[in-house]
Amino acid sequence: MSASKKILVLGGDGFCGWPTALHLSDKGHDARRRRPEKRAKKRAPRARARRRAAQVTIVDNLSRRNIDTELGCDSLTPITHPEVRLEAWKELTGKTIHFENLDVATEYDKLELLMKTVRPDSVVHFAEQRAAPYSQKGAKQKRYTVDNNVCGTHNLLAAVVEADCNTHVVHLGTMGVYGYGTSGGEIPEGYIDVILPGGRESKILHPAYPGSVYHTTKCLDALLFQFYNKNDGVRVTDLHQGIVWGTNTPLTGMDERLTNRFDYDGDYGTVLNRFLMQAALGVPLTVYGTGGQTRGFIHVTDTAKCIELAINNPPAEGEGVEIFNQVAETRRVRDIAEMISSNTGVPARFLANPRQEAAENELDVSNRKFRALGFEPTLLNDKLFEEVQDVTNKYKDRCIPTKILPASFWNKKRALAAEADGEARSDIKLPEAVASR
Ligand SMILES: NC(=O)c1ccc[n+]([C@@H]2O[C@H](COP(=O)([O-])OP(=O)(O)OC[C@H]3O[C@@H](n4cnc5c(N)ncnc54)[C@H](O)[C@@H]3O)[C@@H](O)[C@H]2O)c1
Repeated sequence: MSASKKILVLGGDGFCGWPTALHLSDKGHDARRRRPEKRAKKRAPRARARRRAAQVTIVDNLSRRNIDTELGCDSLTPITHPEVRLEAWKELTGKTIHFENLDVATEYDKLELLMKTVRPDSVVHFAEQRAAPYSQKGAKQKRYTVDNNVCGTHNLLAAVVEADCNTHVVHLGTMGVYGYGTSGGEIPEGYIDVILPGGRESKILHPAYPGSVYHTTKCLDALLFQFYNKNDGVRVTDLHQGIVWGTNTPLTGMDERLTNRFDYDGDYGTVLNRFLMQAALGVPLTVYGTGGQTRGFIHVTDTAKCIELAINNPPAEGEGVEIFNQVAETRRVRDIAEMISSNTGVPARFLANPRQEAAENELDVSNRKFRALGFEPTLLNDKLFEEVQDVTNKYKDRCIPTKILPASFWNKKRALAAEADGEARSDIKLPEAVASR
């Protein structure tokens, strides 16, 4: 890290946020080296002084853990409570990460106070409801996703302005804002050059083409960024991230108490991790539709590294919103299923697609700007598959196999198609040991 910075990690208890918080803390964002606690203590009561002294602060309302309870499911890996995680980190490394239990979407006053107190150099914003299937489950989940994600992002931007702290906002967006139709060419990083009626040349945000309520919230976030950047000069980097796979990074793998969460269920389990879980159980890999969907992928270790790069390369004062495609490579879903099948001998099974989406698409994505900053993508490889397979094998007794199947449908037509597909679903025979659990 180029210089020690004060960083808030919103959503730092989550799948991407936790390894990122450790990565940033590991890179030296712990102020005690620069500003000994003793000096801080003289100026303020203990609690405030400790907060000021910490360079990485996680802000999370633990809503993801509550959604686990709502869905009757849990991270495959047993994850410890935030306090236990942070104590373990301190015990192992001597570094302090602070934790604020705060809802960024509904507790604006607390958020503003935190911004004014910490005056962070950067805020990394992961704190959103991130599962497209969950966002399509029903009216309750659709409304929650919009309220939570859009209000959270807006509260953050308003608080940056009120705190007047020149904070750089690094937001986790998604490749899904571009849509997953075949665009006929390479998807650029955020902007396209266009000729407007009358022949004027312009550079505009790539047209938004979301495929779920969740993806729509990320498009709405992008408009908020554009406005606050233009109106208030807020510096923003929006990272259009691909599907994250893997479980642990070298840091979360240091101790069981630091283990990262691993979602395998039909709502939160991302495709590659879900397939690896099914392979560990020896149950067919469930491919939706023809499996012709092409998507961008990135390993969780790269997520943390990319965020560090984004923090170290903020846009200059007066510059527009910076956008990077945070993607290592693109792959077709059925090719991934085939790769895992041939590795494990577990066959794939094609189910009616619960999603309203193009059955087949091409995806050609530029990540040139990110690579120019030094991003060296980790590609899907057997060694990393082994890491996930070790985890899935180790904890497979914690898996509730029925939860792997799709549980949310994009619309009535897709739900009916799944019903008609009931036979194919029941055809997915679970091994006796698994079925009897
Ligand atoms: N996981 C992926 O494959 C992926 C892909 C592309 C983009 N992203 C984006 O990265 C970000 C993080 O994803 P993740 O996989 O770590 O998700 P996650 O659900 O594991 O983590 C999100 C965290 O934010 C917290 N949170 C949510 N709403 C909050 C609120 N109002 N106030 C405070 N905390 C709140 C949750 O409790 C959770 O700990 C998301 O914004 C997501 O859209 C993830």
